[in-house]
Amino acid sequence: MATIGQIVFCSMIILIVIFGTAIILLLALALSGQLSEVMSNNMAPTANLGNDELLSCYLNAQTQPARVTEVSVTWQRTGLTGPVYRYQNGAPSLGDQDPQFKGRTQLFPGDLVAGNASLLLRSVGRSDGGEYTCTISSSGGGGKVKIHLKTAAFSAPTFKFTSSALTAEAPRWFPKPNVTWSDFDGNVLNGSTSFAENSVGIFRVVSSLQPVNISETYSCRTENDLVTAVSKATVTDPVTENTYFTFSAASSLMTSTHLSITTSVLCIYYLT
Ligand SMILES: *[C@@H]1O[C@H](CO)[C@@H](O)[C@H](O)[C@H]1NC(C)=O
Ligand SMILES: *[C@@H]1O[C@H](CO)[C@@H](O)[C@H](O)[C@H]1NC(C)=O
Repeated sequence: MATIGQIVFCSMIILIVIFGTAIILLLALALSGQLSEVMSNNMAPTANLGNDELLSCYLNAQTQPARVTEVSVTWQRTGLTGPVYRYQNGAPSLGDQDPQFKGRTQLFPGDLVAGNASLLLRSVGRSDGGEYTCTISSSGGGGKVKIHLKTAAFSAPTFKFTSSALTAEAPRWFPKPNVTWSDFDGNVLNGSTSFAENSVGIFRVVSSLQPVNISETYSCRTENDLVTAVSKATVTDPVTENTYFTFSAASSLMTSTHLSITTSVLCIYYLT
């Protein structure tokens, strides 16, 4: 049994943890660029290997005039000496651009006059992952924002119904995902999944569920650490299907919330 002293002690610990978490959350928000002059609408994007990716970076409209002049922009990646992209004195300046990015990057000159320095990176490869810094200076102010780019391969599965089995096939996944089937009520069902890895390490995923009922809707969840695809498939002819993707934004916010819950649970456990 817990004494009054222990209860008071634990309550105080819980309060301290809650306030600590609140402060960490506020700091994380401030540091993540919300209060800065240069912003990004996605600081932890996940690019699909082989596709183009837009790295977002722009001057905060609240603190800027509608048009800015004397804009210069530098995109750098941590660990490289040459820039990923540079724009100054009204033109691209790519003499010392890192060779990895030659011919694969561009800004949007029409958006630049509105303070938008977003970078298009073409045909993303695994070696493009890392920390990028976008620095803007202009007549209307400037600053920088850091963007952490992750790379993965992901694709929506297509569904087929043949002889009482529902089969989902997705051509490109990396890292290797897990596949979970469930019925309309969310009960997990026993599917069987196989993987085929191609020469560049990307997986083709084939998963089937058997038996299934005609005109019932099933959910198929394909996920790895970076990407989750949730598909709903209704057993009709042809199968009616739709998939949406979500990306995990592993952040200090989640870690600190998790920490605070863990601490509180431990404390309550100690009391009883
Ligand atoms: C910046 O420009 C890009 C490329 O045109 C566009 O996709 C994006 O929406 C723009 N961002 C903002 C905040 O205006
Ligand atoms: C799941 O299915 C496999 C064959 O696909 C079978 O061997 C296994 O026993 C099943 N497990 C359960 C819990 O039904």
